[in-house]
Amino acid sequence: MSAGGEGAPEALWKRLASHGAAARNRRIADLFAADPARAEAFSLRADGLLLDYSRTNIDPPSRADLLALAEAAGLARRRAAMFAGERINETEDRAVRHVALRAPEGCDWADAGALETLARMRAFAKGVRGGQVQSPAGAPFADVVNIGIGGSDLGPVMASRALAPYHDGPRLHFVSNVDSADFADTTRALDPARTLFVVASKTFTTQETMQNAASARAWLEAAGLEAPGHFVAVSSARDRARAWGIAPERIFSFADWVGGRFSLWGPVGLGLMLAIGPRHFDEMLEGAHAMDRHFLSAEGAGNMPLMLALTGIWHRQVMGHASRAVIPYEHRLARLPAYLQQLEMESNGKSVAMDGSPLARPSCPVVWGEPGTNGQHAFFQMLHQGSDVVPVEFLLGKRGHEPGLARHHLLLVANCLAQGEALMRGRSLEESRARLAGKGLAPDQLERLARHRTFAGNRPSTTLLYERLTPRTLGRIIALYEHRVFAEGVILGINSFDQWGVELGKELATSLVPILEGRAEAEDKDPSTRMLLEALKQPPSLV
Ligand code: F6P
Repeated sequence: MSAGGEGAPEALWKRLASHGAAARNRRIADLFAADPARAEAFSLRADGLLLDYSRTNIDPPSRADLLALAEAAGLARRRAAMFAGERINETEDRAVRHVALRAPEGCDWADAGALETLARMRAFAKGVRGGQVQSPAGAPFADVVNIGIGGSDLGPVMASRALAPYHDGPRLHFVSNVDSADFADTTRALDPARTLFVVASKTFTTQETMQNAASARAWLEAAGLEAPGHFVAVSSARDRARAWGIAPERIFSFADWVGGRFSLWGPVGLGLMLAIGPRHFDEMLEGAHAMDRHFLSAEGAGNMPLMLALTGIWHRQVMGHASRAVIPYEHRLARLPAYLQQLEMESNGKSVAMDGSPLARPSCPVVWGEPGTNGQHAFFQMLHQGSDVVPVEFLLGKRGHEPGLARHHLLLVANCLAQGEALMRGRSLEESRARLAGKGLAPDQLERLARHRTFAGNRPSTTLLYERLTPRTLGRIIALYEHRVFAEGVILGINSFDQWGVELGKELATSLVPILEGRAEAEDKDPSTRMLLEALKQPPSLV
């Protein structure tokens, strides 16, 4: 029996469309003027996080209907089904149980196998970090290179950077791209004798990863080393990892109910655990587990992932904003936007509903971003004055990790708050004229300049405030986004857990390899591909 997944009813979407039409004719600032308690009423605190969505154009009736939408879509039922391990990934006939990877022993949705693997990971990490697990030649490992792509890369990369202050183990590096530049540039300064490779691939078939792993093996062999002793595999495909030559005790596996983009919490996080240590890794799991419990039990507008999801639905499906910027005012979250691109766009970038019918409305927005303040000096011009409205999600820590550089943090905070304020308030033409008056400008010049200096404002943003970017906080934040993506998917009636859209390109790339090797003809390729293939064959100066 299907556990929901039918999306929300049309009547509610219609009601929300009329709320959206009304919102287009009012200013967010007026909502604050009408309700002095709006900032408190349209924000919520949970588990050390504060989510402020008051600087959006959601008013009380819109929020009530957004909540009704989630309820009518069967979110509670589907959430219970996910935690209970039902096969809610219907197109792949799989359960979706990443929450089990961070569930402690005794928890209802814990998994004995996952706990056992976690214990093995801890023991291995302690051995590598303590120098007892060594290379076959007897050298401790100084560098760890994670080879993986997509979900087998982005989570660990993002978290490794986010938790830089906690690194006290071997240096951690990442190779993901099949472009040889990635492998060459990453390994250039490394000593093969003291390097451990973690080959992370759920399927152990991904072209990029298998090519990089083969190059790693060749790199070790060229240094005269016994390559197998320098490898660890992280995979659901134990047999393939063994067949590739990795010793069974060096394989850390996970079940098929862990989706690639939700896999940071298990063996895919092994490289991270090696770098920050099991204790900090456990703290990250605890933070995520706390968010799981919150998502499961908090009601209505008190549920943070749900409110983040509803804000997303409001901006994309109701107001029609096609993109969303994620701007962490936290330099160490520089890779969060890239991580969220996969989490959100691979999960919810779909055009058919769970039952195969065409989706009645747009799905996922384009998710993008860069850390503040850097983004301010690049694309914020467009956010403030461009012709499209881009809702912004700010993330901000109350405290940094460098008390000796406190003024940096103060300036960071000032900039983050200022951007949210500027986006909402804007600056009217009258204000711009007044600022230019008395500067001796001719009237037509003043008018022209005033127009350039006017900001429409009324541009929405949310702010997620947290205490400090510790492992526990990171765990909470990432689980918050995971559940947000899930809730949006349920409301849209799509399956957030498959990714068929990546298959066609993979198949065509595979079919092009023999053509590029000169073993097959290109006649079934389109004219553009054939022309480019011809150009690739030309001597360098003729391309
Ligand atoms: O890009 C498609 C995808 O299947 C992702 O969903 C996945 O995270 C990535 O490739 C890597 O897959 P694997 O872990 O099997 O190598």
